[in-house]
Amino acid sequence: MDLRDAYFVDGVRTWFGKARPDGFYWTTRADDLVNKVMRELMRRNPNVPWDEVDDNIWGATTQEGDQGTTMGRTTVLTAGLPDKVAGFSVDRMCAGGMTCQAIGGSFIRTGSADIIIAGGVEHMAHHPMGATADPNPRIVSEKMVEVKYFNMGNTAEKLHDWMPENGEAPVTKEESDQYALMVTKRYFDALDNGYYDKHCVDMAVFTKDGWKVANKDEQARRGATIEGMRNLKTPFKKAGKVTAGNSSGLNDGACASVLMSGQKCKELGIKPKMRYIGAAFVGVDPSIMGWGPVPATEKVLKNFGMKFDDLDLIELNEAFAVQAVGFMKHFGMKFPEDPRLNPYGGTIAVGHPLASSGVRLSIQLAQDFEMNPDAKYGLTTMCVGLGMGGSILWENVVGKDF
Ligand SMILES: CC(C)(COP(=O)(O)OP(=O)(O)OC[C@H]1O[C@@H](n2cnc3c(N)ncnc32)[C@H](O)[C@@H]1OP(=O)(O)O)[C@@H](O)C(=O)NCCC(=O)NCCS
Repeated sequence: MDLRDAYFVDGVRTWFGKARPDGFYWTTRADDLVNKVMRELMRRNPNVPWDEVDDNIWGATTQEGDQGTTMGRTTVLTAGLPDKVAGFSVDRMCAGGMTCQAIGGSFIRTGSADIIIAGGVEHMAHHPMGATADPNPRIVSEKMVEVKYFNMGNTAEKLHDWMPENGEAPVTKEESDQYALMVTKRYFDALDNGYYDKHCVDMAVFTKDGWKVANKDEQARRGATIEGMRNLKTPFKKAGKVTAGNSSGLNDGACASVLMSGQKCKELGIKPKMRYIGAAFVGVDPSIMGWGPVPATEKVLKNFGMKFDDLDLIELNEAFAVQAVGFMKHFGMKFPEDPRLNPYGGTIAVGHPLASSGVRLSIQLAQDFEMNPDAKYGLTTMCVGLGMGGSILWENVVGKDF
């Protein structure tokens, strides 16, 4: 192992709430979700010298109010790290946290840092998507993006139409529903087997009914059926294909991870879980933003001299089932179930607090590696608003010695 390599040591997340008045986190501050996961990460990893963290990097899409004031810096103070730890915030919408990991990984590889906290948070109840955005009017007047494609659901409808028009296999509504049902079933099987208890932290929260413990993903819907899915409204298009059942939800939550150089791991006797190989981000036509993971994955594989078949496990963020199914078909994966993709459930069941999700994918991939020691390489990948995709390649190093 190369001592200047970057490694994922550990990660933790809150359970994800529903972003609405009766959701767990309605009265909880976004930065307190961050404090919770940072402190839990510290508690679980007493052998990490937390006062030596070089940077605390946090992704959030809307950087104002309780997600403002350069959260990466303020949470150094509120989570109890010493003043000397630096921090900053990043916005790449849904891939905010993923980008923090890419930055942190690169800092470590170039010798600019040894220990990085990289995380993501989104309180979609306090910061509904796009609510306070003021896009440049030229974007619309000069037809860079049609207004309707600022709404991600419309891009998912367009993707259904775009794929067969562009030489890709079509994805039917039935297939999107089947896929959504499959990942929901996988989610509940994993939940019932304690998979999520391993990396989720319970949090005491004040709600309109008094104090409660946020100890489950509120979005997940047990007992979903294909018949129930078929009859749902299609809110983005009359007689469309995208429904509440085959989309990710509107959620609140935070995820944190700690990355470390090989040198530091060796010095401290820390056994990391994954090696950060590298990342790639790409832009695509904003009207088909869900396609982003395909070219992002092709790019990262090319950059690091690998082939799709080298990947043993993939954690893909399903903003919408159509983009997950499109990804599977493009890369020739088995449909509706491929054991490599989202083996323990996906975003449609777990929830999608935008900027946090990329870090959630990495936390799950690390756990997938622990459970599947023969798996060598893995991928985290996601689509991003206004037409982007991001992918990170990771290597399983669970149990490996330096
Ligand atoms: C799709 C979307 C509009 C649905 O929002 P919503 O209406 O608040 O969603 P709900 O969870 O209340 O579900 C709507 C209804 O469908 C029902 N439903 C949801 N999933 C179901 C399922 N699998 N089976 C049966 N019913 C289901 C709900 O019970 C609810 O029924 P009700 O109206 O009788 O209460 C919203 O989740 C959304 O915008 N998602 C995309 C988020 C996004 O763009 N993220 C960024 C990605 S890049």
